[in-house]
Amino acid sequence: MKQTHTICYVSKANPNLTIEEINEIFKLTEENNRLNHVRGILLHSLGNFFQVLEGEEKYIEDLYENKILIDSRHSEVFEVYRRNVTKPVFQNYFSQFQAITTSSQLDKVRKYLELNKRDSISEKLSRLLNPFIIWD
Ligand SMILES: Cc1cc2nc3c(=O)[nH]c(=O)nc-3n(C[C@H](O)[C@H](O)[C@H](O)COP(=O)(O)O)c2cc1C
Repeated sequence: MKQTHTICYVSKANPNLTIEEINEIFKLTEENNRLNHVRGILLHSLGNFFQVLEGEEKYIEDLYENKILIDSRHSEVFEVYRRNVTKPVFQNYFSQFQAITTSSQLDKVRKYLELNKRDSISEKLSRLLNPFIIWD
């Protein structure tokens, strides 16, 4: 069966980042990931980033190891999971990678994960996303 690689992490945003700089990260991430068929979400809340990446293994690993992990705009990256899956969470729902910047977008993700709770990754993500709040 075809495998998709996925990585999910939480990190601490550099406290000096401005809203403009955070938006810049969102914009570039959406553009790059859409071009490279990477699905998932990125959000910033309460001084943390939360990201889920899904896509081709070589590309995702290279992006994570050689770009994301060494990016000084965040630190203390805590990996929640990093593995191959046969049923990626975001492949069916989101047609493209999405930076979550509004509470209604976050609600939509939560509802989608809730509906797919029988799948263990969706269940885990659903619980992890609980404490995140977006003030728009
Ligand atoms: C929290 C966080 C998440 C990021 N996620 C991605 C991502 O999913 N895809 C991406 O291309 N860049 C992402 N970036 C930006 C990369 O670290 C890097 O700056 C960008 O890919 C440009 O790299 P380059 O200048 O070597 O081309 C992220 C940065 C941060 C701080």
